[in-house]
Amino acid sequence: MNDAESRATPRYSLNLHTPLLDILGCDLPILAAGMGGVARFELAAAVSAAGGLGCLGMVREPVAMIESQVQQLRDLTSRPFGVNLIPAATESRLLATQVDCIIDLKVPIACLFWDIDRDTMARLLEAGIVVMHQVGSVQDARAALTAGADVIIAQGYDAGGHVRGTIGTFSLIPEIAEISPVPVVAAGGIVTGRGLAAALMLGAQGVWCGSAFVTTRESYAHELHKQALVDAVSEDAVHTLAYPLNWPQNSPVRVLRNSITENYQGGRDLPRTRRIGEQDSKPVYLFSTDSPLRDTEGELDKMPLYAGQACGQIRHRESAAELVARMVNEADQVFRHNLVEGNDDRGGPGETAGFSSSPCSLHEASGEYAGHCSNQELIDLLGLLLKAERAGARICACSLKQAGTGRLRRLLQQIHRDEVRSCRLLIGSIRSLDAQPHRETGDFFEKCMAVDNLEERLILLNRGQQWVVRKINEVLPRVGHQTVARQLEIMRNEHQHNIELASQTFETG
Ligand SMILES: Cc1cc2nc3c(=O)[nH]c(=O)nc-3n(C[C@H](O)[C@H](O)[C@H](O)COP(=O)(O)O)c2cc1C
Repeated sequence: MNDAESRATPRYSLNLHTPLLDILGCDLPILAAGMGGVARFELAAAVSAAGGLGCLGMVREPVAMIESQVQQLRDLTSRPFGVNLIPAATESRLLATQVDCIIDLKVPIACLFWDIDRDTMARLLEAGIVVMHQVGSVQDARAALTAGADVIIAQGYDAGGHVRGTIGTFSLIPEIAEISPVPVVAAGGIVTGRGLAAALMLGAQGVWCGSAFVTTRESYAHELHKQALVDAVSEDAVHTLAYPLNWPQNSPVRVLRNSITENYQGGRDLPRTRRIGEQDSKPVYLFSTDSPLRDTEGELDKMPLYAGQACGQIRHRESAAELVARMVNEADQVFRHNLVEGNDDRGGPGETAGFSSSPCSLHEASGEYAGHCSNQELIDLLGLLLKAERAGARICACSLKQAGTGRLRRLLQQIHRDEVRSCRLLIGSIRSLDAQPHRETGDFFEKCMAVDNLEERLILLNRGQQWVVRKINEVLPRVGHQTVARQLEIMRNEHQHNIELASQTFETG
């Protein structure tokens, strides 16, 4: 991190640290959507440098453009970032070269959207890239999970840009969080710290914001788009099929109402179109999904100005770092005021509110009084789990050589990825309790590797996973440390998912 970056990063907030951040490698659970055209290197770098996750919107962009954007971003920050691609809206040969390109560039995170393209996901995962997939329904979430997504972005109907589903963000998050063994990020209608806090309370581990970042200084959107978002009220953001070019049929968008949305008559065929402007020396056509950018010329009033339903809450034009810091501070305030200080006005800033009732004052009592296990007991248990997870990861890695190319291989790869991630979560948890993680691998490794037959070994490994789930379930009700508890829950859910997958694999042979 350079000096500018460390100055820009807001004070770290424990309340906002979620396991998602350990996967992405950033400090704050605020992710800027990879918006085609709008999210170029200045915006993505500014968000990542501020501690969030910036994402380049590279839908349908040629490889040379992706290379140059990634290079320019890396010149500004050494923080992690993502690249957004949309397989369903990209011609297949171009998509293949885009994927090659981000693998060659060792881009750490890929963010995909719309139809789930299992081949593209498999290639990215195989290359060790963290894959986030944006979905609009529980059904899509299940498909993305089966394809191996590391993170699910749950996009609600409130969202700006292309809208995948029909359910509002705050109804969708809890449903997806319940079934997902991997972290869920909320998208759609989140533009404030209060929105961030609410999303976290509903089970999301971060937020993916588009409209709010369109208005920032670093975004590549046209001035007209930025100001229109600040001036808009929520009713101005309409859901429409009026911009169909470049995308699969029936792909709705949410944009600010204009003459095109008002005169849209419906109809299944592509409407007749004509050239209405120019961007990067390329024509912009009427009804195309291209929104006007910094240097777009032409009939801007006919182009789509993407906007989520929360546009009515966007009141400032600020830098990306200011937006990130404001959201963090607001969310932190919400948590401190409502959860820690018992929403009691008697306590001044930073002070603890007076005792009112026993549930409100529990946080003041010692952990043991509240029935929590001691720090040392927790550290010992996390150490034990770490040994088991290291053993599991090594068993998978060694067994891969024997696995051929079929279902067993995919199963082993999935378990391996999750065990490695569990190790990372456990190491982070142990450190957060001010202890040093050990480097040992459990005896289970030798025990399993002594079994020559691969399927029998995997059955034994599955029993090991069941042991981990039991241990976590036993301790969870007594874990007082919120972040550690969340991480254990994630680990438990991932193990349960893999146990089911393994059982199905063995049943179907
Ligand atoms: C201007 C704009 C462009 C967008 N372009 C893309 C895109 O290229 N790829 C993508 O996955 N999502 C895109 N989206 C959708 C976002 O990923 C996200 O779902 C949405 O912005 C969340 O809702 P919000 O705008 O209310 O924050 C875009 C959104 C906006 C506002």
